[in-house]
Parts: sequence; structure tokens; C-alpha cells
Amino acid sequence: MASPPFSVIFGHQNLTFSWSLLLFLLPPLILSPSLVFASPCRNSCGNIPIKYPFGIDDGCGAPQFRRMFNCSNDLFFLTPSGSYKVQSIDYDKQSMVIYDPAMSTCSILQPHHDFIMTDIQSIIIPPSPDTVFALLNCSIDSPILNHYKYLCFNFSGHSCDELYGSCNAFRVFHLLANSTSPPCCFTGYDTVKMMSMNILDCTHYTTVLNTENLKGVGALDWEYGMKLSFSVADLGCDRCSKSGGNCGFDTETEGLLCLCSVSSNHTRDCVGGNIPNGGPNQASVLFIGEFLFLLLAILHLNFKSLTYY
Ligand SMILES: *[C@@H]1O[C@H](CO)[C@@H](O)[C@H](O)[C@H]1NC(C)=O
Ligand SMILES: *[C@@H]1O[C@H](CO)[C@@H](O)[C@H](O)[C@H]1NC(C)=O
Ligand SMILES: *[C@@H]1O[C@H](CO)[C@@H](O)[C@H](O)[C@H]1NC(C)=O
Ligand SMILES: *[C@@H]1O[C@H](CO)[C@@H](O)[C@H](O)[C@H]1NC(C)=O
Ligand SMILES: *[C@@H]1O[C@H](CO)[C@@H](O)[C@H](O)[C@H]1NC(C)=O
Repeated sequence: MASPPFSVIFGHQNLTFSWSLLLFLLPPLILSPSLVFASPCRNSCGNIPIKYPFGIDDGCGAPQFRRMFNCSNDLFFLTPSGSYKVQSIDYDKQSMVIYDPAMSTCSILQPHHDFIMTDIQSIIIPPSPDTVFALLNCSIDSPILNHYKYLCFNFSGHSCDELYGSCNAFRVFHLLANSTSPPCCFTGYDTVKMMSMNILDCTHYTTVLNTENLKGVGALDWEYGMKLSFSVADLGCDRCSKSGGNCGFDTETEGLLCLCSVSSNHTRDCVGGNIPNGGPNQASVLFIGEFLFLLLAILHLNFKSLTYY
């Protein structure tokens, strides 16, 4: 459709006019691909790659994970109980390792605090089963030593005494209790989710990850932190990302979008061709198409006005 008006113009005497017009119109056409494909979503934070279902810019990623991350130099996972530094994300295994700098570990004892997630977080990104919570310095009246005793499990044969004995940070519990160690409990996230530390009546906790092979491994060599396992609903994101887009959502309606550029959002993908009911309606075609239309309209008008003279 581009050829007839061009040939008309080139066939016309006024070549200087058409060249200047082309020079004026070409730069936007040349620039447009970079505009079209500039991503509206940051794809990393520090050294952590950010991919679906996560996003750090609002509107990027899956809406379920909205406002759960903050990128200020490092990536932080936000929950009602604090900001947890993200150590790594394994997108294939759908797991994320976080570290709570305010948590007690074998080498540092820190003040009492809870680990709290929102209801949504505890469903879509809960601590994985191989993350063990060790509740420490529990009172003998603690529910987990009485009615809820069954919530504590045998953690590869490890004992409270071992923990209190081998960790500098926990030795203090041993001393204060006048030779008998205060009880502790190895348990899972569900226990902590059900009861706050106050109800559990334990003053401290620590969390250990990758706990599958810790039989016979001393507490000094455990890996402290939490592994969260996330689930991703398959909402056709593959198709959007394969077409060069970022899966995201409308920040007002949270309706799913394929973010193709700063200036265009689409419902499914950025490439035409395989949209079953839409045809090739992608960003670049629209954008360049608009310019061609404008170009043709101007040329046509000018051609008309020229023929009058
Ligand atoms: C993200 O971190 C920055 C810098 O630490 C802070 O100013 C900002 O309030 C944080 N945002 C959220 C949502 O926590
Ligand atoms: C251990 O728990 C007791 C109460 O059960 C508390 O008085 C004591 O301060 C705790 N120890 C530490 C080191 O916090
Ligand atoms: C805990 O499990 C270990 C094996 O991992 C076993 O040897 C030990 O006897 C168990 N302890 C208790 C109190 O059941
Ligand atoms: C410590 O234990 C000894 C004997 O085991 C006992 O006589 C003493 O009263 C205990 N002290 C406290 C503070 O429990
Ligand atoms: C595309 O979607 C993002 C995220 O919802 C939004 O910030 C942006 O304004 C949208 N752009 C257009 C052109 O609609």
C-alpha cells in the first residue's frame, strides 16, 4: 500500500520537497523499534534476576506477588514482620532463599521477634518443608511441650542440649537455667503460623534450611535462613515472554497484560501471527503503521495541493 503515493511523488517534479519531508519523518521511524522494545520492567536487582512471577516495578510480574519486593541495592522480600534479604531465587525449582538479619543463629543471639506472613503469602510463597524452625528457650508451660507436643519432630536426631552446647549464641540459655536446659522444639512453619512466639512461650527461634541431609552434622555447620517455595499459576506467561514481553498486570484492575514496551500493553503477547482472534496487532506494527499512515496522509495532501498549482 506504500508504493503508489511514493511513485507518484517521485514521478513528480518536486523532488526537493519530498526529500525534506522524508528526512523529517524518518528519524521517528528509525527510533521507533528501540522505543517499542524498551522494557518497562527491571529484570534484576543487585545480582538477583527478576522474572515472572516476581516484579519490582508496580505492574510487573503476577498480581498475587504485588508489593512483596523492594529493591534498594539489594532485593528484599517484605512481610508484615519485616524486610528479608533475598539471597537467591531458583526459578526452575520455584524456591527463594531469604535471610532475616534480625534472626538469632548459632553465632548471634538477637532480641525476640516473630516471623509473620500475610495470608496470601503463606499460601503462595510459604517456607518449604525442608526449612526447620527451632524454637528455643521455651518455658515448661509452652503449648508445644504439652497439648501441642505432636507439633515438634525429631530433627535428624538433633537435641536441644546439642544446640545449646555447640552454639555460642545459645549457650546463655544453658547457663541461666541452672544446669537443666530449657526445652526447645524443632517444628515446621505451620506451627509458627498458628501460634505467635508469645503463645508458644519460647523466647527465640532460628530457622535452618536444606535440612534433608543434616543427620550427624553439627549446628555450627547448618545453613541458617529460610527457603520459601512459590507457586506460579500458568496464565500464559510463556507466550508473552517468548514474544519479548514482560508479564504484568493493569495496576488499577489487576487484569493480566503483556507489557511490550513503555508505550504499549497487550493482553497476550507482543508478536502478531499466532493471536487466534486478533491478527497481527502488535506494538511495532501499530507504531510503524501509524507513521506510515501519517506519512501517506501528508504526502497525499501535499500531492493534491501541488497538483492545484
Ligand atoms: C524500600 O526500601 C527503601 C530504602 O530502604 C525505603 O525507602 C522504602 O520505603 C521501601 N519500600 C517499601 C515498600 O518498603
Ligand atoms: C529464657 O527464657 C526465660 C523465661 O522462660 C527468660 O526469663 C530468659 O530471659 C530467657 N533467656 C534469654 C537469654 O533470653
Ligand atoms: C530421632 O531419630 C534418630 C534417627 O534420625 C534416632 O536415632 C533417634 O533415636 C530418634 N530420637 C527419638 C527421641 O525418637
Ligand atoms: C540450681 O540448682 C541447685 C541444685 O541443682 C539448686 O539447689 C538451686 O536452687 C538452683 N537454683 C535455681 C536458681 O534454680
Ligand atoms: C502498561 O501497564 C503498566 C502496568 O500496569 C502501566 O504502568 C502503563 O502505564 C501501561 N501503559 C500503557 C500505555 O497503557
